[in-house]
Amino acid sequence: MKNLLVTGGCGFIGTNFIRYLLSDTVAGSSNRFDGRIINVDKLTYAGNPDNLNSVADAHPERYCFVRADICDYQATAGVFREYEIDAVCHFAAESHVDRSIVDPDAFVRTNIIGTFNLLELARENQDRMIRFHHISTDEVFGSLGTEGFFTEQTAYDPSSPYSASKAGSDHLVRAYSRTYGLPVTISNCSNNYGPYQFPEKLIPLMILNALEAKPLPVYGDGLNVRDWLYAADHCRAIWEIMTRGRSGETYNIGGGCEMKNIDLVKMICDLMDRKIPDRSAGDSSKLITFVEDRPGHDRRYAIDCRKLQKELGWKPQESFESGLGKTIDWYLNNPDWINRVRTGEYQKWVKQHYGDTEKR
Ligand code: NAD
Ligand code: TYD
Repeated sequence: MKNLLVTGGCGFIGTNFIRYLLSDTVAGSSNRFDGRIINVDKLTYAGNPDNLNSVADAHPERYCFVRADICDYQATAGVFREYEIDAVCHFAAESHVDRSIVDPDAFVRTNIIGTFNLLELARENQDRMIRFHHISTDEVFGSLGTEGFFTEQTAYDPSSPYSASKAGSDHLVRAYSRTYGLPVTISNCSNNYGPYQFPEKLIPLMILNALEAKPLPVYGDGLNVRDWLYAADHCRAIWEIMTRGRSGETYNIGGGCEMKNIDLVKMICDLMDRKIPDRSAGDSSKLITFVEDRPGHDRRYAIDCRKLQKELGWKPQESFESGLGKTIDWYLNNPDWINRVRTGEYQKWVKQHYGDTEKR
């Protein structure tokens, strides 16, 4: 892979992935990456160029950023041409379930049409295309009862416009493998947490609200279960699949770490009480507020990732306790990042540099 297109690299997982790929860990490993990363991102509210400033400075030869919308076929085609793209790692998506309930339109466009455009461009450049890796979610499988796990054979049964649009994109990617022989892999991963996550998702929202002593909104009875994975472990799995996974295959990725939302929020509260000066045990948990449930709220997700473990030897390295502690420390140690996100400064910067190119 000489010229790897990463889409959505300024978002949460894309940022962690680019940082990982250019790190000493990968440089010193048996599947090192010597190529160049071309990060294409539209810079929606979820894309924060601050995340990769230091990467751009440290690797001017190996990292390029192009602001483009993957729904804009011509702009994306220009990137394939100019940078001679020979591999794709596709993160770009509208990713928040609650937003998809209020405004599904952008989800259908970016997640389905955007993925379709990338597949068409990969097909047009198929002679040099080494791998098209599509990042997806376990939410495509719908909800589990109290027993069982999602496997790669579980039938798709999405509940939200977000998960339905991701399911649609997964089907397209698989179809391009079967119909055109495009060398694709797909990964369906459980809920991620870690540094750089936008504070609309459960874990960073609870950390920042607890920090500011604001209410901690828990949906419904708080007994919904998610299977949590530290983002760095996800990124390691993606790179294993991209480089060693079998073409045409799907791999589930999960943390083996099921938590009820309410237990997780209480755990965050306990850690915050210990880490914030002047707080005593029990102070943060007083902020917990049960609110109206999310419509179509999936009850439980849990992943069986034995295929990935067996074929590629991957397993999570971070325990939930250590990963959550590191995540909280990252937010506590990065007040400037939080401030620029909270005030919208990072978006003002985008507007100043690129103009308001949002097309609706
Ligand atoms: P995110 O919302 O933090 O980032 C998405 C990025 O995509 C942003 O930088 C945004 O600017 C960019 N983007 C959005 N629309 C675009 C467009 N039309 N053109 C170009 N760029 C665009 O998302 P994330 O949490 O980092 O998730 C990344 C991928 O991983 C998504 O495909 C998501 O479905 C998947 N996933 C996420 C999780 C999770 O827990 N966050 C779990 C499993 C899978
Ligand atoms: P979220 O981080 O939005 O991820 P997803 O919906 O993709 O799983 O939510 C994780 C869980 O936390 C989910 O069951 C919904 C719940 N939740 C709350 O209870 N309160 C909140 O404020 C948010 C954002 C989520």
